[in-house]
Amino acid sequence: MNSMDASPPVIRIRDLSTRFGDVWIHKELDLEIQRGELVSLVGGSGSGKTTLLRMVVGLLLPDSGSIEIFGEPLFGGGVARERDLRQRFGVLFQQGALFSAFNVFDNIAFPLRELKRYDEDAIHDLVMLKLSMVELLPRHGKLMPAELSGGMIKRVALARALALEPELLLLDEPTAGLDPDRSDSFVRLIRMLGEELGLTVMLVTHDLDTLAALSTRVAVLAEQRILAYGTTEEIMQVDHPFIRNFFLSDRSVRALQKSGFAAVPH
Ligand SMILES: Nc1ncnc2c1ncn2[C@@H]1O[C@H](COP(=O)(O)OP(=O)(O)O)[C@@H](O)[C@H]1O
Ligand SMILES: [Mg+2]
Repeated sequence: MNSMDASPPVIRIRDLSTRFGDVWIHKELDLEIQRGELVSLVGGSGSGKTTLLRMVVGLLLPDSGSIEIFGEPLFGGGVARERDLRQRFGVLFQQGALFSAFNVFDNIAFPLRELKRYDEDAIHDLVMLKLSMVELLPRHGKLMPAELSGGMIKRVALARALALEPELLLLDEPTAGLDPDRSDSFVRLIRMLGEELGLTVMLVTHDLDTLAALSTRVAVLAEQRILAYGTTEEIMQVDHPFIRNFFLSDRSVRALQKSGFAAVPH
C-alpha cells in the first residue's frame, strides 16, 4: 500500500475489550486490515476469534473500544446506515447456517429478495451467476441442504455471502470439517474469487495449508490481543509458545514446505 493512497483501512479495530462474566476475552486489542488484503486470524481454541468476527459484523457489542468498517463507525448512525454498511460485507459462519427448509436457489436468493430491489427474473440471473462463481451447476439450485455434501454446503454458503457483491468477506474456519481435497479446492476458490472480485478477506483458520496458501498477513490472537501481525515468514520468527506450537507440529512443517516456505526456525 503506497503512502499516496488515502483510502482508510477496511477494518480498523481500536482498543477493543470484551468480557464474559469475570473473564476478559479481549483486552485493548488493535487490528487494521487494508483493502485487498487477505488476513488469517489464528489463535488457540477459545481465544476469542469467533467473538471478534461477530463484533466486526455487528452481531455483538464490545465492552469498550471502537470498530470502523470502510472508515465509518460500525455502531450508531441509525438503522438505514447500518443496513447500507452491512450490504458491503459477506459472512460465512462456521456452522454453514443455510436455511434447511429452503433449497439452494432460495438460500442464495434470500439476501437479494430481502433488499426488495430486484424482480424475480433479475434474481434468477444473479443466483445463476453466483452458483457458477462457486463452481456449482444450475441444477444444484433445486437441491435441499440435507442433500448436499459438506463441501457443497460451504460453496452454497459462500455464494450466499457473495450475493450482494460485498467488498469485504469474513470467513470463520471455512475449511473445518472438509477432507484435505475439498479443503484445498475451497481454498483455491476463495483465493480466485478474492482476486477476481477485489475482495478484502478476513478469515479464521486452524488450517496451516489454508493460511500459507492464502494470507497476505497473519494475525495471532493470544493473551487477549493481537500478539503478532505480519507475513507468514515474519510470524514464524516470533518466539512465543503458541506460535512455536502452531508452526512446529509435523503437519505444519509439511504444509509449509508444500507451500514453498523454507526452514522453520527452532
Ligand atoms: N455469548 C457468550 N457468553 C459467554 N461466553 C462466551 C460467549 N461467546 C463466547 N464465549 C466464551 O468466550 C471464549 C471465546 O469464544 P470464541 O470467540 O468462540 O473462541 P474461538 O472462536 O477463538 O474458539 C470462550 O471461552 C467461549 O466459551
Ligand atoms: Mg471459533
